Amino acid sequence: MDIVEEIRQLKTARKAVILAHNYTRPEVQDVADFTGDSLELARRAAAVEAETIVLCGVYFMAETAAILNPEKTVLIPDPTAGCPMADMITADQLRALKAKHPNAIAVCYVNSTAEVKAECDLCVTSGNAAKVMASVPRDREVIFVPDCHLGEHIMRAEGRTYELWPGYCPIHDRLTAADVAAARAAHPTAPVLVHPECSRAVREAADERLSTGGMCAYAQTCAAGTILVGTEVGILHRLRQENPTKTFVPVSEGIVCADMKKPTLENLAACLKNLSPRVTVPEPVASRARRAIEAMLRVS
Ligand code: 13P
Ligand code: SF4
Repeated sequence: MDIVEEIRQLKTARKAVILAHNYTRPEVQDVADFTGDSLELARRAAAVEAETIVLCGVYFMAETAAILNPEKTVLIPDPTAGCPMADMITADQLRALKAKHPNAIAVCYVNSTAEVKAECDLCVTSGNAAKVMASVPRDREVIFVPDCHLGEHIMRAEGRTYELWPGYCPIHDRLTAADVAAARAAHPTAPVLVHPECSRAVREAADERLSTGGMCAYAQTCAAGTILVGTEVGILHRLRQENPTKTFVPVSEGIVCADMKKPTLENLAACLKNLSPRVTVPEPVASRARRAIEAMLRVS
């Protein structure tokens, strides 16, 4: 039996739903029930009826699904798929920062560990950060962790200052303003979309700063026939499938997140077969982290 058919049969037998991030391998996206950005995956995970959720993505995404569904089985095809940015702050470091700013509201990017989320009042994704932060009273001091680039992007748009943690995505950090300039020179009329995890120089060189879901929505409505894409190259599969008459060109071919490539058809089939590796988040961390995620989902 071919492996895609095997996954389909196992999925039915396990009453499972397969959720995949936009950066995963094309063949994984193709077998998934739903492919989306971090916000869309969190929303789907919160609404799932299936008994088992297989999260094809990095560990914090499976943790988010487990936090929102403590009674369900949440599986991850490869538990070593981490997010280096999420690991740039520990709960101890955040507690020390909070002690220095006792009146601040603590906000975490969803790319953070469950322990860090448990220390926060509010969570955001790149798809809803502007809207969620607008709900925070302007006179409240804000701690924003771990992504200094997303934090800076939102605080500048809001015209206020946050206490930023110096974390960043090592993959998006590879993109330079020179890459954007070179891509523009080759395609002068194409709009440039970049992820807000990019550096300020790259964000300022681009036309739009969007989450991966925002890029997919933009591509469907924009008039341009060619679009330059400044984020992890895995998203090109979905963009091309959803917009077969348009051309998508990566701003740089080198923006590849090795962790996002860890879910494969083989380890996906194996985890459905074995109902393992399973992701669980212990109490009281899960309940405390759930408050921050649910506060975000209420606003967005
Ligand atoms: P999105 O929520 O925009 O998909 O971003 C997730 C991510 O890890 C970006 O590097
Ligand atoms: Fe983390 Fe960057 Fe990979 Fe996204 S692309 S999962 S932020 S390392």
